Amino acid sequence: MQVLVIGSGGREHALAWKSAQDESVTNVFVAPGNAGTALESKITNLSLDTSDFSKVESFCKEEHIGLVIIGPEQPLVDGMSDYLQSKGIKTFGPSKAAAQLEGSKTFSKDFFVKYGIPTAAYAAFDSYDASINYLDNIEYPTVVKADGLAAGKGVLICQNKNEAVSALDSIFKDQAFGEAGSSVVIEEFLEGEEASFIAVVSKDKIIPLATSQDHKAVGEGDVGLNTGGMGAYSPAPIVDDHIHKKIIDEVMKPTMEGLISEGSPYLGFLYAGLMIKNDELKVLEFNCRFGDPETQPILLRLKSSLVDLCLAAINEQLESIHVEWTEQHSCGVVIASEGYPENYISNKEVQIHPEGDQDTKLFHAGTKLVDHKIMTSGGRVFCATALGTNLKEAQSKAYNLVNKVSFEGAFYRKDIGFKGIK
Ligand code: AMP
Ligand code: GLY
Repeated sequence: MQVLVIGSGGREHALAWKSAQDESVTNVFVAPGNAGTALESKITNLSLDTSDFSKVESFCKEEHIGLVIIGPEQPLVDGMSDYLQSKGIKTFGPSKAAAQLEGSKTFSKDFFVKYGIPTAAYAAFDSYDASINYLDNIEYPTVVKADGLAAGKGVLICQNKNEAVSALDSIFKDQAFGEAGSSVVIEEFLEGEEASFIAVVSKDKIIPLATSQDHKAVGEGDVGLNTGGMGAYSPAPIVDDHIHKKIIDEVMKPTMEGLISEGSPYLGFLYAGLMIKNDELKVLEFNCRFGDPETQPILLRLKSSLVDLCLAAINEQLESIHVEWTEQHSCGVVIASEGYPENYISNKEVQIHPEGDQDTKLFHAGTKLVDHKIMTSGGRVFCATALGTNLKEAQSKAYNLVNKVSFEGAFYRKDIGFKGIK
């Protein structure tokens, strides 16, 4: 069987790498992929205009693609999964309607309220004046969120009214997030510890993946600007059995049932970003996809077939699937380009000393091959990922791997995993 993975990040490298391990898989295409996927055996990068769904369809039909896995949110929100499924192509990823859980903060907040899913108190606005007036009646800090997709940058935590006014100015007046900022959600600031809960969902059936936690802030000790994620580890001790059950009962089940009653049952990875404080949990956001970088440490722990899991979900046979995880812990450390998450510097040549250890994997993200050289091409460039008998060992092996990679301006957080070790 041949598989097609859509996307170019670290998540997609991990999805393609894992898919290629199946004996039944002869080749995995990645559109467009990165230098890491270009260098793997059984993986081929593909230059294809994936915004033109008919081109993707033609390619899938010509190559008899048996499974398409859509990595990032944008093609899902644009309806790629609906389109390919309607053409009879087995596609893993939610419909455009279900992807609104990530595509619109207003949609998702209204959905949470409608289906009794715990979340921060909020109000939604599509007018600047009304949103400004609201600022007099709330407590600070507060959180201002652009409604639409903003590459992880559309959430602004404001310590006081002045900061909230600036946030609204940048969204409504300066149109910092373009169309994504045509409306906003202003919500209560939540305290606690964040965790990611990611599952494979098919209508009313769910297979939770191994638990994980990422580090969103750019700086050590979780300070500084938010990024897409500077590193992640699995399992996450904060999600103990009790919290796990609460997440399934209070968040995942009502979400799956709510989507079914809205006429848009879910298929794909469903990711709940949660704030946990003592025994209470609240949903910060949903993502309609696997997390990046959570995918990398999670898939390093997956012993069974990813392809079988995705196909079982598509074929509505999740109950027939048994998923096995290694008992080992994993840790992934992101190596980023100078300047990230703001304007960053690209096009630096990368040196990698041989990896060697079978318990480690260097996943590429923002890299490309130019004349057989690996060049940087994004903010997050690699995720150095490793397994260990405990988190501390996984962490130490991941940092050994980090030390084998160098390029000008490279930086990384030196404390990935500290929340799980403490
Ligand atoms: P989101 O895209 O909604 O998950 O927001 C991105 C990040 O902003 C989250 O991972 C949190 O770190 C932070 N955040 C979002 N909403 C809140 C909130 N209501 N209270 C505190 N922090 C938040
Ligand atoms: N690591 C956070 C995300 O994938 O959105």
